[in-house]
Amino acid sequence: MKLFAISDTHFWHKPERNMNQFGEIWIDHESKIKRNWREAVGTDDLVMMGGDISWASRTEEAMVHLRQLCSLPGIAKVMVKGNHDHWWKKTDKLQPLLPQNLTALSGSAVKIKGEVICGTRGWLSPNDPCSDTLDKKTFEKEMGLLEQALIQAVTLGPSLLGIHLLLHFPPFTTTGANTPFWEVIKRYPVATCTYGHFHMRHEWEKIPKGEVDGVWCSLTSSDFINHRPLLISPR
Ligand SMILES: [Fe+2]
Repeated sequence: MKLFAISDTHFWHKPERNMNQFGEIWIDHESKIKRNWREAVGTDDLVMMGGDISWASRTEEAMVHLRQLCSLPGIAKVMVKGNHDHWWKKTDKLQPLLPQNLTALSGSAVKIKGEVICGTRGWLSPNDPCSDTLDKKTFEKEMGLLEQALIQAVTLGPSLLGIHLLLHFPPFTTTGANTPFWEVIKRYPVATCTYGHFHMRHEWEKIPKGEVDGVWCSLTSSDFINHRPLLISPR
């Protein structure tokens, strides 16, 4: 089973949320994602979806998009919430409504074919230039959820490779510095960490990618990876 990741797919269903307005890369992006996904991902592979999945505001609307994504190749899909996934209210109420091969992670972990994946949304950190004091409460809540996810991942017995951590917000600031989330991550046997949220070229250039403190880090914003699910772990 190979592991792939893609985030910020931003599927839309209303003209005012048409992504075409955000530049060439976003024109007809849903078709690009579907085509590339079918090419890249095999039926036995797993795909991690790192938030900002759909612009929908109601769960029923988002479900149309989730069913589309879950009908694409892959033995299983896991997902975390992004800051725009307003349709995602309570995770325990959402899970029973989801397609059978989709797991929603929020401060939690799951074991699929021997690999342990855990995740949470994350948030802007107080040391980020874009953060403001109002963000502090959510930041603290997400710090707790990250630790909870990692503890649960350890108890599930990850493979020798380690834990796969799925986030929406990068554990690095918009200027590429470590955040307190990263300090937590370093204390656990994390093999891979994937994140999205960033859409600006200057953010893409500054954010750490590749091996950081022994963790394989990947930025998986759909526009950054040309709308093609990114191979994270080649086993
Ligand atoms: Fe986002």
